[in-house]
Amino acid sequence: MKVTKVAIVGMGTVGTGVARLLLDHGDRTARHAGRTLWLEKVVIRDINKKRQVDLPEGLLTEDLNEVLDNPEIKVVAQMIGGLEPARTILLKLLESGKDIVTANKALLAEHGAELFDRARELGRSIAFEAAVAGGIPIITNMSQCLSANQLNGLQAILNGTSNFVVTQMAEKGASYDKVIQQAQELGYAEADPTMDVDGTDAAQKLAILAHLGFGARVNWKEIARTGIDVLTQTDMKCADHLGYRIKLLAIAQLTKEGLELHVSPTLVKKGRPLAEVQDANNAISVDCDAAGNLFFYGPGAGQMPTASAIVADMIDTAVGRTELTFETLKLWSKQPPRVNLREPNTLAGEFYLRLTVLEQPGVLSQIAGTLGEHGISIKSILQQEGLSKIESTDGQTRKYVPIVILTHKTSEGASRQAVAAINTLKCVEQQCIRLRVLD
Ligand code: NAP
Ligand code: HSE
Repeated sequence: MKVTKVAIVGMGTVGTGVARLLLDHGDRTARHAGRTLWLEKVVIRDINKKRQVDLPEGLLTEDLNEVLDNPEIKVVAQMIGGLEPARTILLKLLESGKDIVTANKALLAEHGAELFDRARELGRSIAFEAAVAGGIPIITNMSQCLSANQLNGLQAILNGTSNFVVTQMAEKGASYDKVIQQAQELGYAEADPTMDVDGTDAAQKLAILAHLGFGARVNWKEIARTGIDVLTQTDMKCADHLGYRIKLLAIAQLTKEGLELHVSPTLVKKGRPLAEVQDANNAISVDCDAAGNLFFYGPGAGQMPTASAIVADMIDTAVGRTELTFETLKLWSKQPPRVNLREPNTLAGEFYLRLTVLEQPGVLSQIAGTLGEHGISIKSILQQEGLSKIESTDGQTRKYVPIVILTHKTSEGASRQAVAAINTLKCVEQQCIRLRVLD
């Protein structure tokens, strides 16, 4: 049987899973690849650190040159997170003639153009199925299986950590800090979990999907985004009371004015498939003109689901399939965009506004008046008496109560401005929380 020698650079959560699949299930990968994928080297930063997998003698090294200088190693799974040294190492690997498999969406979203151009110049390829939605094969589906379609839009849960956090908070009443720690222990979170909870990771993945599915050239920083770090248990309870679940949704919608892109915690009506996605699972609902509406669902983070996508890419690269799609897709090339982005402030939507206000006459009229001044029509108002609190300071007793307003359709810009104005009202005790609503 033929042999293709491969290497892993970076062996944390995902790299360990990749080593497990290659070493423990070599027969399976050989059957699917028609050749043995022989793990020749694993490059790590600290050879004395305890690893979660038993590796054959001589496999581990701290010296990247042992991979760069070995022309027999053809495919490298680059499993280092973040921008540097991941970028420099990836370029060195390309220069030394390796084809790359990576899960690093931050690196692709930031330096995709440079890396893909260099790979093309050198006649090499970069495969990245694991960079979006973990174990769900969404990259292959969008770039190959749906290539006869025009995509009209997608609605997705793309960050496993955020979905784990909101599920645990809503279902178990768990505290935000405790659940983040659990997500880190379970290997879902990024080395810096801020990227998960502030919407950055989902925006980076959405930028990759927008590029692939809509031909947009997106700087992920231009995507309007809010993370789940604004949420509290009060929002979970209010959403539940109103018949919704809160999910961090990434949306791409093709309109006559251009492509809408945004990431935001969103109230999703219970019973909709996206509302029922629990824990670290991800889901992507894709609206296509020929195939119709497709729903992809499964584990979006974690060791083995992500390793599954990486090893599949290693097989595709070893047998030459990646080279073909890499050549035809021309990703992050100098081709002009097929679609322009809509200006974020013009994006339409219905909103949930939660305010904590002093309970006194005239408060509702001030808030409704401010919304009216910004052209925003109220769909419903809920005063949550059960969640009110009483405070005594300076000999005065004040009662504060949460008020939730659902608006009719308005624009991102109008809702932002209205919230800024509401926050200046004397009767408003805490900054207003603004979330999107998907009925
Ligand atoms: P991780 O657990 O933090 O592992 C990163 C590994 O890179 C560590 O083993 C670290 O070495 C190694 N490393 C860092 N700098 C290095 C260097 N200069 N030379 C060699 N090794 C170096 O991260 P992870 O969760 O496996 O994620 C890896 C990538 O996959 C990231 O881009 C992440 O965004 C992406 N991803 C992760 C998941 C997930 O569920 N975890 C899912 C999809 C995509 P030490 O062990 O010595 O510190
Ligand atoms: N930290 C990421 C998440 C890993 O939680 O979704 C998968 O990309």
